[in-house]
Amino acid sequence: MNRTIEPAAALRGEINVPGDKSISHRSIMFGSLAEGTTCVSGFLTGEDNLATLNAFASMGVTIRRIGETSLEIEGRGLDGLEEPSNVIDCGNSGTTMRLMTGLLAGQKFFSVLTGDQYLRRRPMKRVVGPLTQMGARITGRQGGELAPLAIQGTELQPTTYHSPVASAQVKSALLLAGLSVDGETTVYEPSLSRDHSERMLSWFGADLKPFDGGVTIMGRPRLQAREVQVPGDISSAAFFMVAGLVTPDSELLIRNVGVNPSRSGIIDILQAMGGQIELIDERNPSGEPIADILVKSSRLQGIEIGGDLIPRAIDEFPVISIAAALAEGTTIIKDARELRVKETDRIAAMVDGLTVLGADVEAQEDGMIINGCEQLQGGQVVSHGDHRIAMSFAVAALNSSGPVTIEDTECTETSFPGFWELLTSVRRAG
Ligand code: S3P
Repeated sequence: MNRTIEPAAALRGEINVPGDKSISHRSIMFGSLAEGTTCVSGFLTGEDNLATLNAFASMGVTIRRIGETSLEIEGRGLDGLEEPSNVIDCGNSGTTMRLMTGLLAGQKFFSVLTGDQYLRRRPMKRVVGPLTQMGARITGRQGGELAPLAIQGTELQPTTYHSPVASAQVKSALLLAGLSVDGETTVYEPSLSRDHSERMLSWFGADLKPFDGGVTIMGRPRLQAREVQVPGDISSAAFFMVAGLVTPDSELLIRNVGVNPSRSGIIDILQAMGGQIELIDERNPSGEPIADILVKSSRLQGIEIGGDLIPRAIDEFPVISIAAALAEGTTIIKDARELRVKETDRIAAMVDGLTVLGADVEAQEDGMIINGCEQLQGGQVVSHGDHRIAMSFAVAALNSSGPVTIEDTECTETSFPGFWELLTSVRRAG
């Protein structure tokens, strides 16, 4: 479905964004492996998380949906999952596929994971390789690089793995595999990726030791059911943060957003660009810091972004590139090669679309160089089936000289049901 977004005179209002995608996935996974009933509130009912929910239901876990955003999960303990009678469809969700590959590798049964046309093109060796080193029996297309993946569960061995990429999905796959191991599993990463698995597994009672550069998990814990309050997703809030900054005469208050330091790179980046962003009422109700975020229209400046900041804002680069295109001066994004293997190649997708909208932008192998301008122009762009690309171009439209048509916008259901309605609700006439 195509959608056409008109430029906006102003954006104003107080909003809530849907629950955090990463925490929602993990609440089902860890809740299913715990003993007792885990109650989840603020759950994201996007398509990615429903893929995880259906996967665990197909392995015998009773999950009750209460209202739109609450769940009760009847945990089955570490050894309680049952062999699924059919192939598990992970849809578009890399997190579902990679984390479950780790978990299923150490189960006592056979399983197959597949996904949509985009997920079946994404690299899986990054988890299959180290899991094989632990003794896992996993096969897939192209020697285990591509899904579908067939997993014959087996007894795994303790391991120490030095990951070449800062990836929470790789780290979490190994931690989940490590749950079944009799002994310690250690993962090193080049810089810290999101640490929700570490925080939540500890909250559920696992013996986990994060240290500078990595984390160790002791296998065979008894996980205990917990209450999980899922905060609003900072990756979803990011679209409204940039929208509020680049649209004239705007002020938005985004309530109840998770501001875990391993995810809050977007705030540091936009503040460094001169964006007026204020964190209000910072709190920490259950192991994950939360704040309300106030943004006001600002004239942004180009900056250089690289190094440890990249994993802390990895999902936000599509919308950061919109902020950069509307900033004064040049923005250089580097060390971000990972963007090429997300839901789509996000460097190519943003460079192509921004060029259509009149921006001066150049792709680099590991990032992009963007020379900012005062205003973009209207035009027609493609999402490549990638939710964050579609929503980023909706933000670009707000400060364009003409309407922007975005092709294939259903994909926003992946992570942000209600995005288009929420955007309409904050628009103000000039
Ligand atoms: C995620 C980790 C990140 C991120 C993805 C969610 C997670 O992927 O891009 O949207 O929940 O662990 P990588 O581990 O590939 O960086």
